[in-house]
Amino acid sequence: MKKRVAVLISGRGSNLQALLDAEQDAYEITLVVANVPGVEGLDRARAAGVEALTLDHKPYGKNREAFERDLDALLVQRNIELIALAGFMRVLTPFFVNAWKGRLVNIHPSLLPKYPGVNTHARVLEAGESEHGCSVHLVVEEVDSGEILGQAKMPIRAGDTPDGLAERILLLEHELYPRCLAELARLP
Ligand code: GRF
Repeated sequence: MKKRVAVLISGRGSNLQALLDAEQDAYEITLVVANVPGVEGLDRARAAGVEALTLDHKPYGKNREAFERDLDALLVQRNIELIALAGFMRVLTPFFVNAWKGRLVNIHPSLLPKYPGVNTHARVLEAGESEHGCSVHLVVEEVDSGEILGQAKMPIRAGDTPDGLAERILLLEHELYPRCLAELARLP
């Protein structure tokens, strides 16, 4: 049986597209939820015939957990088994992380545990690293620090810029994420 996957997004959804385009033999994306109205990723989901919903976080103000309780209810109603964060720009509270422990994954554009957080490409260049990459990891309470399920690496070239690195890493992300999600989905 394929695992029912929800993908959470906040923007363009190129990783969502890669997850949709991959051979979904171990998982099936049955729901996409955006916390920002009108983002491109929602169109990608609909074009693929997948239910696409918006749950705007703004009306919840500072009450992150109230937003997450409604999100959780949506996911439970639809019998979701695994959640993939793909450019989802909300830090999740312990409530949500613990409710989905072991079933919640994220992709991050660095070779974790190096460079958690934002602006990874600029920081990698500033530090003079010779390689860079991306990681798929389980989500735990501490941001970008759960068990690493897979990584892809590439060398840094002379003259690389943050934007250029972002573009090259994205190609690696699109290959890595479907593979790691499928491996997780195959676990009992
Ligand atoms: C990716 O770089 C991903 O690693 C990060 O956010 C970006 C999302 O891009 N978490 P997209 O929306 O999947 O195109």
